[in-house]
Amino acid sequence: MIPSVEREDIAALLRWYVEQGIDETIGEEAIDRFAAPPPLAAVVLPAGGPAPAATPALGATPTPASPAAPTSRRPTPAPVVRAPVPIESPQLVEDARALARGCDTVEALEAAVRAFEGCALKRTAKNTVFADGVAGAPVMIVGEAPGGDEDRLGKPFVGVSGQLMDRMFAAIGMSRERDLYITNILFWRPPGNRTPTLAEQAICLAFTRRHIELARPKVLVLAGGTAAKSVLDTTEGIMRLRGKWATLALDDGTTVPALPTFHPAYLLRTPASKRQSWSDLLSLDRKLRELGLR
Ligand code: URA
Repeated sequence: MIPSVEREDIAALLRWYVEQGIDETIGEEAIDRFAAPPPLAAVVLPAGGPAPAATPALGATPTPASPAAPTSRRPTPAPVVRAPVPIESPQLVEDARALARGCDTVEALEAAVRAFEGCALKRTAKNTVFADGVAGAPVMIVGEAPGGDEDRLGKPFVGVSGQLMDRMFAAIGMSRERDLYITNILFWRPPGNRTPTLAEQAICLAFTRRHIELARPKVLVLAGGTAAKSVLDTTEGIMRLRGKWATLALDDGTTVPALPTFHPAYLLRTPASKRQSWSDLLSLDRKLRELGLR
């Protein structure tokens, strides 16, 4: 049996790991990632044959090659793996935009996001976290990225910060079952809940902007600095942005009023800021009344 002092040491060490973002158990054996299959964005070209007419969209799930027709006695050359596209490549953002533009419904967009292989975060995430609530609801909430609970359950804002968010909206009579549509700028959990890189944000934002166009909310709530800065394309911090209505211009020519507010995870750490968040919620309630939605 492990002596109790030693057990406390182990518990303290585990708590420290979790605080540092190391919250997944891994195997005993190290994995040689260099020996793993080529990165997701790599493109396999047929060897020996003519150059392909068009390179497939890099973000799209590659379709399996059709079996080669039986040919002459020439030996089949080994396939050539073209240099992988760097995972930060601006081309991936273009691919994401093109795929998103091609979607005419929220369902089609969800399928495109689930099939998309151009965001490196997908490799470490358990689930694609697309949305929750009512598509077409008057209020659409956009957060930052799934955390551990969201990754496990495949739904946004279902952990402790999501539960606080639910209670806050319940205080103005709104629920995700009836009035809210909830998503994040990122569809996959960043390892250890780190802040997503600008490249990861840019790739996913291409889909999120189309998501907003297709869901057609009357009002957008941007939860936290990362979501607010990314969606509004500004470097201004959340302390300055929160509580001030902005107008988001979308690529289809429509606009939507957007309210940046504190992220519920920030409120859990800084309960004194709940006063400002309450004032933001009252502002949202007033806006919905002005729009004749309440
Ligand atoms: N934080 C977010 O920004 N989104 C979630 O879905 C969960 C936590």
